[in-house]
Amino acid sequence: TGNVTLDSGFVNTASCRSAITYIDGDAGILRYRGYPIEQLAEKSTFVETSFLLIYGHLPSAAELEDFTSRIRRHTLLHEDLKRFFEGFPRDAHPMPVLSSAVSALSTFYQDSLNPFDPEQVEISTVRLLAKLPTIAAYAYKKSVGQPFLYPDNSLSLVENYLRMTFGFPAEPYDLDPVMVKALDQLLILHADHEQNCSTSTVRLVGSSHANLFASVSAGINALFGPLHGGANQAVLEMLEQIRDNGGNVDEFVRKVKNKEDGVKLMGFGHRVYKNYDPRAAIIKKTADEILEKLGKRDELLDIAMKLEQVALEDDYFVSRKLYPNVDFYTGLIYKAMGFPTRMFTVLFALGRLPGWIAQWREMIEDPETKIGRPRQLYIGETARDYVAMTQR
Ligand code: CMC
Repeated sequence: TGNVTLDSGFVNTASCRSAITYIDGDAGILRYRGYPIEQLAEKSTFVETSFLLIYGHLPSAAELEDFTSRIRRHTLLHEDLKRFFEGFPRDAHPMPVLSSAVSALSTFYQDSLNPFDPEQVEISTVRLLAKLPTIAAYAYKKSVGQPFLYPDNSLSLVENYLRMTFGFPAEPYDLDPVMVKALDQLLILHADHEQNCSTSTVRLVGSSHANLFASVSAGINALFGPLHGGANQAVLEMLEQIRDNGGNVDEFVRKVKNKEDGVKLMGFGHRVYKNYDPRAAIIKKTADEILEKLGKRDELLDIAMKLEQVALEDDYFVSRKLYPNVDFYTGLIYKAMGFPTRMFTVLFALGRLPGWIAQWREMIEDPETKIGRPRQLYIGETARDYVAMTQR
């Protein structure tokens, strides 16, 4: 094994060809199907961007209407699946609830699990896009002990999700257009990011010809980790901790630099971006506006801005090319919208779903795809004889 080197973490290994998302990490460029993320964030909608990622082109008006109405027809959960939520402990984290419910979709739609039947893949795609917001809202309702709301299909996907999350059956829910627009934009910004940990998981699981629900459920579990999607929750917890310790940003940065107790500056650094994450640049701008518009200026935002300023001038971060990533400012916006910290990663999952689906479909259709099966360098014992219990 002397001359063989590992690529632990796949820093340098391409596992597929993909026509979906382009990233230039040095230049801070992100494009979906060739369209710059800045233009999509400003001009597109989450449903339109989902179509773009999955089918490869911007939809015509008729295509978008058809796609939207197909999603609308599938927002309900089977009543038996709804009961599923009752079995979880009240204090369950919503991410494993989400992945369990998505995994359970395989049991309800056994007629559409064949990855090689385009019609079955299509209906599974629509079901997932339609049902994940309902599942996410129910995971939240369960955690706060409130009644579940049926979807209202006169509303858009994002409006429906917000109403099912924050509304009550007994009274009308006043949708705040500022919040709807901001959430829609955040979902667009999360919609795909090429071969990140959760997407690679979706592809790897799917490479064994596991169905779309099973593969996406695995992706949700990968996203749960604090080094990936769980970072948005970890950022807010970090900011609160700094606030509770008297708001001393310099002291916190010192700890990070000395790698004390493994403390990291959460929401900083990225495997691919060695420049400002273009998503973070958009989110930083909106965070300020949104918090102002929602009338929820937050002292945590001031801590975050100070933290960013200190880090961007410090040699530790500069020499390692550590910049704010997508997760650095999102939590502040979610908090202002009224989401508890534990729901943040669920919102990331809602956004990433079209990317997972697009990547899974590309993988299934690619004749070059083989079952994912890395090799290893064995470093254990050489052959030895079994020792009887009495002689150990
Ligand atoms: N705070 C302090 N030091 C850091 C950080 C950080 N956030 N990120 C990287 N470093 C240091 C790391 O300790 C290493 O230092 P040294 O050279 O002295 O050993 C150097 O920078 C290189 O880091 P790495 O761990 O080899 O980089 P990676 O590409 O393996 O990890 C990462 C990328 C995103 C996991 C990492 O930067 C990190 O843990 N960041 C904090 C968690 C986070 O914000 N994750 C969200 C990522 S973006 C959205 C998503 O994927 O969900």
